Amino acid sequence: MDRIYLDNASTTETDGRVLEAMMPYLTGKFGNASSIHSLGKTAKVMLEDTRDIVAEAIGCSSSEIFFTSGGTESNNFALKGMAFSRIGKGGHIVSSLAEHSAVLDTLKYLESRFGFDVTYLAPGGRGNIDPDRVRSAVREDTFLISLMHANNETGALTDVRAVSGIASGYGIAFHSDTVQSFGKLNLNVKELGMDMAVISAHKISGPKGISALYIKKGTKPDKYMHGGMQERDMRGGTENTAAIAGFGKAVLICRDQAGRDFEHYTELRRHLLGLLLSEFGNALSVNSPEDESKGLPNILNFSFRKELAEYDEEMLLIQLDLKGIAVSGGSACTSGTNKPSHVLLAIGRDPAEALGAVRVSFGRNNTKSDCEGLLKALKEIVRLK
Ligand SMILES: Cc1ncc(COP(=O)(O)O)c(C=O)c1O
Repeated sequence: MDRIYLDNASTTETDGRVLEAMMPYLTGKFGNASSIHSLGKTAKVMLEDTRDIVAEAIGCSSSEIFFTSGGTESNNFALKGMAFSRIGKGGHIVSSLAEHSAVLDTLKYLESRFGFDVTYLAPGGRGNIDPDRVRSAVREDTFLISLMHANNETGALTDVRAVSGIASGYGIAFHSDTVQSFGKLNLNVKELGMDMAVISAHKISGPKGISALYIKKGTKPDKYMHGGMQERDMRGGTENTAAIAGFGKAVLICRDQAGRDFEHYTELRRHLLGLLLSEFGNALSVNSPEDESKGLPNILNFSFRKELAEYDEEMLLIQLDLKGIAVSGGSACTSGTNKPSHVLLAIGRDPAEALGAVRVSFGRNNTKSDCEGLLKALKEIVRLK
């Protein structure tokens, strides 16, 4: 059976060139970047070169880049770091109901264990957050706004320029989870006015378990990981040099291909949406922004209206998998039970529609025939009433 992989927002296949860049640091050049001998120096030089590559890609200075073990850790570092720098003073954070759990769960922990106050804004019907609502939520004691650039389930974009304008106007730090937008959209953190941003290599054909956190000079989160003096004494732990080498290569590939990738994803998304609408018509409920300028080009999230279509929403992804198609859905599995996605509930979908949602996310290797393969499988599973 030919497999069709349409789940690139979950993770991407590691590019062969990335793997090639990593191999020497797992074999001959295995030194610890903190060691003073020449093997260590070799690793250190590569590590600092990669820091320069990442910094250049997002338009910041190399001293503003910190390597961590993934997007989850980078978000934890940013949020806990900022909150811990205010222990004893408390304060208020503005965020949204549609954030990734790496942000949402961290904020809930900061509320319940340390008494911080968080306002969670509800997104509109297609997942976008209205910047005016951000302005209204700001309080005297607000010290942080945390809003993702692009939503991982719907692809909905936040007008981060408008949000950063509000944040800087009040002297509030602005953290944005940019894990899904890097490589898909321009992410010049200075132009966009971000104080903290996050890149995760495995979303851009790089290895898993490596990320960069951008912290603007002058933004002062508390130290997050204690241990050695790595990452300018902000994040202890021996650096994952092979992954960092691969990360650098993946960023360089993005730099060279970003324009072509954007067009490729846009074309595939339009093609798939056209196919789905012509087959399912009104029975299709699109959960991603209709306006292309308000969504990522590589994500299309849709459900079927229960009154017009017959299918088993809990089984849909498994049935697609049995037909060789990998996509994500609208549920999170918690303690063995399927719960509807918090993002789809936040944008007003009913629980059954949310449970039966399909998130398609394209990667570089997808083709139009993958879209046709998905449509064929859906036609066999979903019956119009
Ligand atoms: C928006 C967003 N933030 C954070 C993460 C977590 O990143 P990582 O898998 O590198 O920990 C993900 C991964 O799915 C994501 O999509």
